Amino acid sequence: MEEIAAPIPPAELTVTSPEQMRQLGRRLAKLLRAGDLVLLSGELGAGKTTLTRGLGEGLGVRGAVTSPTFVIARVHPSLGDGPPLVHVDAYRLGGGLDEMEDLDLDVSLPESVIVVEWGEGKVEELTDDRLHVVIHRAVGDTTDEVRHVTLTGIGERWAAVDLSVLSA
Ligand SMILES: Nc1ncnc2c1ncn2[C@@H]1O[C@H](COP(=O)(O)OP(=O)(O)O)[C@@H](O)[C@H]1O
Ligand SMILES: [Mg+2]
Repeated sequence: MEEIAAPIPPAELTVTSPEQMRQLGRRLAKLLRAGDLVLLSGELGAGKTTLTRGLGEGLGVRGAVTSPTFVIARVHPSLGDGPPLVHVDAYRLGGGLDEMEDLDLDVSLPESVIVVEWGEGKVEELTDDRLHVVIHRAVGDTTDEVRHVTLTGIGERWAAVDLSVLSA
């Protein structure tokens, strides 16, 4: 009888401070390699850029990850021999890859890790595989630092990756 592996379920984590969000990014970086696309969803102030900052630290890239005011994408080259981090903030962009054509993300993807904030519905055409990270902040209390993070691997690339290691 043929065995069909059950798909790896999404990982659900609770993060209770900005520093923990950065740590999550540093751990996630260990799972990433060139060619990976990571989509970050969550409202303004959810912690997408904070997570990306940790990713940049974990990947060992040059320059601190910040929220770009005018720049849509920033390339952070590796300080070692790892892949560069391409950080895209698609907040001001409309739908579809066409709007981002100038960024040539398709050209850089094979040798880079690309992280896109607000990328839903805009960059999925780049590849069949992606890691979708959704960050929810607890509703109501605006001073609350609790965030719920769901990570879902989509496509063959993520089929056998156990995301539960991130909860450690
Ligand atoms: N658990 C948390 N994770 C991430 N950021 C948090 C958390 N708690 C509070 N914050 C604060 O929320 C803000 C998140 O900002 P940012 O990462 O730029 O969000 P986004 O990119 O999603 O708009 C920062 O000011 C950060 O200090
Ligand atoms: Mg941001």
